[in-house]
Amino acid sequence: MAEVMVLFLTLCFQLLALPLYVLSYLGIWEPFCKKIFFPFFLEQFTASYNRKVLRQKQDLFRNMMDFADPSGKLTVLEIGTGTGSNFQFFPANCRVICTDPNPHFQKGLAKSIAQNQHLQYEQFIMTSAEDLGQVANASVDVVVSTLVLCSVKNVEAVLREVNRVLKSGGAFYFLEHVAADRSSWGFFWQQVYSPPWKLLFDGCFLTRETSADIEKANFSEIKLQHIHVPLPWTPVRPHIIGYAVK
Ligand SMILES: C[S@@+](CC[C@H](N)C(=O)[O-])C[C@H]1O[C@@H](n2cnc3c(N)ncnc32)[C@H](O)[C@@H]1O
Repeated sequence: MAEVMVLFLTLCFQLLALPLYVLSYLGIWEPFCKKIFFPFFLEQFTASYNRKVLRQKQDLFRNMMDFADPSGKLTVLEIGTGTGSNFQFFPANCRVICTDPNPHFQKGLAKSIAQNQHLQYEQFIMTSAEDLGQVANASVDVVVSTLVLCSVKNVEAVLREVNRVLKSGGAFYFLEHVAADRSSWGFFWQQVYSPPWKLLFDGCFLTRETSADIEKANFSEIKLQHIHVPLPWTPVRPHIIGYAVK
């Protein structure tokens, strides 16, 4: 019965989103989304999101310097940097390598860089996290990913790349929205919203069980917590937060 309801409501939402599907079919939506809608949306969203997860992000990134190299230098590679919403949480003087496949976040990114002069910005690489080929094996101390693994095409390939570029003993920090408990109404609505959500928000999947992917990814130690971020009336409240050590 639940499956029939999901199917019915999913069809209803797809009908509501019909104009979006038409724009997508005509090849108009995706370029507009990447260039204009998503960068604009992300700038507005991250300001309010960062206020909601302020304490969690402060706690998460607090021990980053524990992973610095023996000379005290810390090199951080961020995947899916977007507008640079995490820069304020990184420790002073760490070297930051930013990566993102979408080059249209310059405005927000430049603003974050200007506001966070305590960091050394090394490089911006326009690439997807499935292919970090420009980054040498075992060359970074920390990799950061927030709200990215929901949108990548292949989570397993991304985690393989993260493991490759991390030094032994380096850490992968994550904060990601994930699938709700399968027996919950939250999961029911995630399934209903999924198809138009993915189209509207640049390929974002609502029902990924990312903790299982991280657990399978050959890290030696994982600190992972399930939390709910207060984002009322949205299907992205369930999150995982933590770090995994190579
Ligand atoms: C919701 S935004 C989050 C941005 C930023 N990490 C933050 O927390 O504010 C998702 C980001 O993932 C990026 N992204 C999408 N597919 C990706 C991929 N395959 N590899 C790396 N980043 C990707 C998008 O371009 C976008 O910048």
